[in-house]
Amino acid sequence: MNMDVIVSLCKRRGFVFQSSEIYGGIASCWDYGPLGVELKNNVKRAWWRDNVTLRADMVGLDAAILMHPAVWKASGHLDHFTDPMVDCRACRRRFRADQLDAQPWTHYCPATKGNKFTVAAGEACRHCGARRTLCPECGKGELTPPRQFNLMFKTFMGPVEEDAAVTYLRPETAQGIFVNFDNVLQSMRLKLPFGVAQIGKSFRNEITPGNFIFRTHEFEQMEIEFFVNPNDTIDGRPADEVWHERWIEERLAWYQRYGIRRENLRLREHEKGELAHYAKRTADIDYKFPIGWSELEGVANRTDFDLKQHSQASGKSLTYFDEERKTHVVPYVIEPSAGADRSVLAFLVDAYREEEVRGEKRVVLRFHPDLAPIKIAVLPLLKKRPEIVATAQDLRERLARRWTTVYDDTAAIGRLYRRQDEVGTPYCVTVDVQTVGDAEKGEAGDRKVTVRARDSMEQIRVPLEELVTVFGELFDGAVWSAVAARYPAVKG
Ligand code: GLY
Repeated sequence: MNMDVIVSLCKRRGFVFQSSEIYGGIASCWDYGPLGVELKNNVKRAWWRDNVTLRADMVGLDAAILMHPAVWKASGHLDHFTDPMVDCRACRRRFRADQLDAQPWTHYCPATKGNKFTVAAGEACRHCGARRTLCPECGKGELTPPRQFNLMFKTFMGPVEEDAAVTYLRPETAQGIFVNFDNVLQSMRLKLPFGVAQIGKSFRNEITPGNFIFRTHEFEQMEIEFFVNPNDTIDGRPADEVWHERWIEERLAWYQRYGIRRENLRLREHEKGELAHYAKRTADIDYKFPIGWSELEGVANRTDFDLKQHSQASGKSLTYFDEERKTHVVPYVIEPSAGADRSVLAFLVDAYREEEVRGEKRVVLRFHPDLAPIKIAVLPLLKKRPEIVATAQDLRERLARRWTTVYDDTAAIGRLYRRQDEVGTPYCVTVDVQTVGDAEKGEAGDRKVTVRARDSMEQIRVPLEELVTVFGELFDGAVWSAVAARYPAVKG
């Protein structure tokens, strides 16, 4: 599938907009629209519920984005969180040195007439045999030797822009957890193994951001630091290694629990040279994005690196007292680090389907009901009938107390259904003449409404007063066919 299809749907239906668009936009910054913010909140809520609320061995945290600059010295980010970068001396564009060979290059070939053309990535010119030595964009400028470029955004605390006031926007939420290790341990009286979870914004001055919300300067992380006693063993194996494997499996299962197909997920081990400066082992959970297989989440074994570094730099003890062995230990940490924006993108891409229904194309987002931005749409069949409109609006109000519910009367019913399919609304409820009857003719309504399921497009007739129970069951996980069997079917 093409990323443009998703980008266009996201803009058209209020999921994601280009940031500052009326000023021409700002590169790699995106705003979540009315449906996007609901979707992203639902992803974060599902993550928090499964990793914090439902687990007895996890607690949460929400640390500040701005931290003492000493944190970044101790964590190694000041010295090591860099990418090798080269500049073009002619057009001044900047590239990641390690990605240059993966790019096609513009060539001004001396052996041909009208000599400007593009040569594919990694290939030589088939006329003159030259390989790329010049800028891949303009093709004219020499490239500078690579130099290390720190990815942290620098800023100043207070009114004076001087070196003493320098601080950084955090490049990962993880450090907020490490520096609070002792606060959390003491206040919550925790026993190893336990984890601390956090969702929050992080910032990286990427040299080559892009691909919609896949890689952005400002992004949201959902991170867990799971602390393990390094002296423990499980079935004769070091506990940190066993927990690492458990978390990889758990996180892989989590994406599937919310609808991502297994064939679109894979595990990828980091090579030795690729490991972050703190990691003993890292396995990425990759998703098959429209741009190809790319990282959705990294699950790293950070060992005791961070706690030791902060303990040394701050002079504070960051240890755990092992009652059994009567000794202080520095815990090892397993870190499942997921991107909220990347998860949103993966859930969008995986949910997207184009189907043919009675000779017409139907676009549908088959979101898991927990993730769908709108849960129920209430649609009046005739907006000229005040009783129908009043009943539908009253119904929306009642359902909205428990589920995100919208009312829409701006088109004919077939079109309204298509609109809800396109944004992934699991259920539509239609109020019609039969529901309210016709007072002028002395006909009483049956006080029943039509409920339509997004995926099967089946419709059933349900009494108004049973709707809350029916949706309660459906959103609690009951299967549609079991619930639908209790009510008469309606022909679509
Ligand atoms: N905390 C790991 C990462 O941000 O990549």
